[in-house]
Amino acid sequence: MSTFDSSEVWEHARDWAVMRSFVYYQRENFIPEGLIEGRDVIDYSAGLGDLSAYVSSLNPSSLLATAPEQDAPRPPLLPDSVEWMTGVGADRIADLLPAASADVILARMVIQFPTMESNAVDVDDILAQMHSVLREDGSITISTHSFFSLPRFEGDHSQADDHLAAVEADVLPLLETDNTFTRGVAQETAGLIELVRYLDLPPREGPFGRTGFGLKIPMLVNSFVNQGFRIESVEEIEPFTFPIGLYERITDDTDSAIKIGERVMSIKQRHLTSVEAADPYLRPSVLAAMIAEIRELLPMTAVPIVRICATKT
Ligand SMILES: C[S@@+](CC[C@H](N)C(=O)[O-])C[C@H]1O[C@@H](n2cnc3c(N)ncnc32)[C@H](O)[C@@H]1O
Repeated sequence: MSTFDSSEVWEHARDWAVMRSFVYYQRENFIPEGLIEGRDVIDYSAGLGDLSAYVSSLNPSSLLATAPEQDAPRPPLLPDSVEWMTGVGADRIADLLPAASADVILARMVIQFPTMESNAVDVDDILAQMHSVLREDGSITISTHSFFSLPRFEGDHSQADDHLAAVEADVLPLLETDNTFTRGVAQETAGLIELVRYLDLPPREGPFGRTGFGLKIPMLVNSFVNQGFRIESVEEIEPFTFPIGLYERITDDTDSAIKIGERVMSIKQRHLTSVEAADPYLRPSVLAAMIAEIRELLPMTAVPIVRICATKT
């Protein structure tokens, strides 16, 4: 029996079908070239199925998309050829998926969510289970929010909700100040608090006893190595661009939110797949231009997304 709370499907509870296009692109820039063709692939916690639809166009030998909730409906975006399996919470991966049955596991923006506290499973345990599901030389590609902290956010991370409320109480009055620097920092911080609450990101212990959110990359790299993987690459692939204040307003005007989301997605695609984005010297100005263009459409805050590609040893 899974400890995952399956009372409500994660994506449905968050209007993910609308919000998704604002926050990340992660398609060509998520799937390493040549990874998929002829392989047995799992898209773990596949969400709306948009990544699976893209993967399916790259000619895998087979593709299985999963959801943690027992009653998650099959996403309409999934092509018929894709198998859909529900109830695969992070504590049940090795119970439900046969050992040595896959060549490739993809887990896009998933492994930062389960925790020992709420799901009785953490990153090491997830990776150990995925290791057993992979064949020899199989590979895994994940992405995650990398660790970020909030100003004045310290101490016992089991009290994260109280901390968030306290920081928020300090920050909200500053949104009205005439000082543009202070107002900008307050907006960013308020945006990050909204992001954490919206996603329900679990708090993690950070450097210097600080509490934060997302995964610490050195620790994550160690987890891969300790669970029997060889790291192929670790990269900041794009920023997670969170639209401040949008989620509250979606129900008032869903159509216009969807249209703006489509524009954000196409801005991200254009910049992230450009030739310049692949050049480490030009990439910073590409990302800055991308963020400036998105900010012309709506206010947003951003945190880095890190992708790790690794091979089973
Ligand atoms: C940000 S969404 C990403 C969904 C999809 N991979 C995508 O990129 O659109 C986070 C996903 O993590 C899944 N998740 C959260 N807790 C989980 C758990 N304990 N076990 C398995 N999946 C979990 C949610 O169901 C959700 O699909």
